[in-house]
Amino acid sequence: MTLKNDLILRAARGEKVERTPVWLMRQAGRVLPEYREVRAKMGGFKELVETPEFACEVSIQPVDVLGVDAAIIFSDILVIPEAMGLPYQMIEAKGPWFEKTIKTAADISQIKTASADDLHYVIDAIKLTKKELNGRVPLIGFAGAPWTIFAYMIEGSGSKTFSRAKKFLYTQPDAAHQLLQKITDSTINYLKGQIAAGADMLQLFDSWAGVLSPEQYNEFALKYISQICDAVSEVPMTVFAKDAQFARRGMGKLNCSAIGLDWTMDIAESREMIGSSKTLQGNMDPCLLYSDYGTIKKETIKMLKAFGPQRHIANLGHGLYPDIEKDKAKCFVDTIKEFRF
Ligand code: CP3
Repeated sequence: MTLKNDLILRAARGEKVERTPVWLMRQAGRVLPEYREVRAKMGGFKELVETPEFACEVSIQPVDVLGVDAAIIFSDILVIPEAMGLPYQMIEAKGPWFEKTIKTAADISQIKTASADDLHYVIDAIKLTKKELNGRVPLIGFAGAPWTIFAYMIEGSGSKTFSRAKKFLYTQPDAAHQLLQKITDSTINYLKGQIAAGADMLQLFDSWAGVLSPEQYNEFALKYISQICDAVSEVPMTVFAKDAQFARRGMGKLNCSAIGLDWTMDIAESREMIGSSKTLQGNMDPCLLYSDYGTIKKETIKMLKAFGPQRHIANLGHGLYPDIEKDKAKCFVDTIKEFRF
């Protein structure tokens, strides 16, 4: 099916665009009253993720309500550890929790390499969402980057420092590599399944990149991201490593189309470090959206000018926070869609 709006795909490939395209990380979620309504009808977050009809409905909501240039499939990065044998629970107001975690090399031999079939509910949700979108905008698929998934599998929950996961890198480096390879192989299978189901573009989220040293990041993170980029090159891929200022030069060498920036990364400096062959995505501080409409417009236009007219996909520098007003998010989107260089 031909897409009626393919701005994001063209921007990712470095082709000419009439205006800068925009989507928002965590757009399919709690800032929308429409989402909360569907969520309230459900048993819980996981039921929503695992029921393709509901996942489809909330994936399309931001396209209708906010007017973004892409949908992202409603799911979570934690479906991969679950498919490998570590089930998670999403605890209200607290976040994810795993009853089993990885502690030893023996635990690693117990878990499996996931196939796309193990995540059939996401694959079915992508097929249904593609059908329901009917070519309006592209659909973005995603997965967690191996280091971030590893961190949850060791830690068993969120953490400020991820010190248990880092301890594993220092004390059991060989086992760490074994687990990272299993996660990488599972992620490649999963992303290939997403493409076969219709995903037009992909994003890897390395949310906990910032707790590693530059050297550790090369050894335990970038190496595996690089394998994924090489293996999954049928559609444009964005790599977003939060707080990984030190990894920007290395990310410029990845076999991917776009690099996501967070708001702590200077735009001109990032362009210089990453080079001209990548599209940059980002990077507004989500907290700007707590500000008044005039400030949101002014700062958004400043950001657009700093990135320039081509090879930019506008976004926030991390996900929307749950208490951001929907109309403020819409103001950010509208400002971008109305702006012309
Ligand atoms: O971007 C989107 O709108 C698509 C859906 C999406 C979700 N999670 C839905 C979700 C995506 C892309 C994710 C990715 C994700 N999940 C990441 C990487 C991005 C990032 O924010 O750094 C991470 C680290 C997770 C793990 C996770 N999932 C945590 C820590 C939490 C709890 C805290 C929180 O953000 O709410 C979740 C829950 C979650 N994932 C919710 C949503 C909409 C909230 C659940 C609810 O509605 O109660």
